[in-house]
Amino acid sequence: MRYDRQWSFHNPVKIIFGPGRIGDLAALAPYERGVLFTSPGFTARGLTDKVAALFSGCRLEIIDDVRPNPDITAIEAYQDRLQEQGIQFVVGVGGGSVLDTAKALSYLLGEGGSGFSLRDHFYGKASLPAYRPLPLITVPTTAGTGSEVTPFATVWDMAKQKKHSLARPDLFPDAALLDPELTLTLPREVTVTTALDVLSHALESVWNHNANPVTVGLAARAIDIFLSTLPGLLDEPQNLGYRSKMLTASLYGGLAISSTRTALAHSISYPVTAVLGAPHGLACGFTLPALLEFNREGDEDGRLDAAAAMAGYDSAGALAEKIRAVFTGAGVGDLMAKYEMTGENILELAPEMFTPERAGNNLRAPDFQDLEKILSASAL
Ligand SMILES: [Fe+2]
Repeated sequence: MRYDRQWSFHNPVKIIFGPGRIGDLAALAPYERGVLFTSPGFTARGLTDKVAALFSGCRLEIIDDVRPNPDITAIEAYQDRLQEQGIQFVVGVGGGSVLDTAKALSYLLGEGGSGFSLRDHFYGKASLPAYRPLPLITVPTTAGTGSEVTPFATVWDMAKQKKHSLARPDLFPDAALLDPELTLTLPREVTVTTALDVLSHALESVWNHNANPVTVGLAARAIDIFLSTLPGLLDEPQNLGYRSKMLTASLYGGLAISSTRTALAHSISYPVTAVLGAPHGLACGFTLPALLEFNREGDEDGRLDAAAAMAGYDSAGALAEKIRAVFTGAGVGDLMAKYEMTGENILELAPEMFTPERAGNNLRAPDFQDLEKILSASAL
């Protein structure tokens, strides 16, 4: 990897980590009126009430119907419901969809944002005005999205099967509170697919034109932790040590992409999620070994080998082999079968997979034949 070049890194999110730290949440938001976004599952596990009870001196609006892959229609409904309520801060407690929803609403409910149409923005009729979003605290319950430390939010328009990205430098959350105890009860499938997102963020930030020595260092740590932790974590899902490690890897991956953004694996994933319903991490993760091999050929400064070495592997090729072995052990093939990620189904989606702002970040630019080869090597 070349160190003799210009780069910058900026991430202003205050990070609070550790078992039991959820108890510190209310102190981060010393206001009288706020909104908590979470998922139906979090409420079903009895956790929403516990979190809400922390805000004893505050009127807290609770929205616990955030669904996977937040849709523009749902975001607009939340905006309508909340914009006259004098909301002073936003908390998101959940996976990537919840955190992205909270992030979008912190922007839409910000000072001066009243009536702004995100839909108009996504379809080119309105640019994003610069104003201060509401204070935002992100609490991830998966490991994970990394969204707790990034200034991006993914918003879907499922009616058009299109994915949009809300991205602004002022969308960084004010604080991210990572409590690994919140991840202890995740079911196996969610544990695997969200962990695949961790590895996706790490690798995508390395084979990325925006990579720099800080992001590669973070990514290498995330890769190392992912590979050395996932097998044990799946054997012992209640092990707080493993859960803490994977949440740390998720944080590292999030910090890396907060600077680089993502690349081709994410670009490939969007139609796989929109059409086949595959969870985000699985849709990103299934191509990673093939993409690692593909990007090695465009890796003029040797950063993939360098990242592999930092993660404890002899070469990027050895790393790809290890990733394949860990995927097999984690049952990634079974999950792909569940979502019908066959060669036929996946290749049909190939024309939709070039999202310019994602694929354009990729170290080696693929043509359509390259893409088909990567997909053929990766699909069932
Ligand atoms: Fe992702």
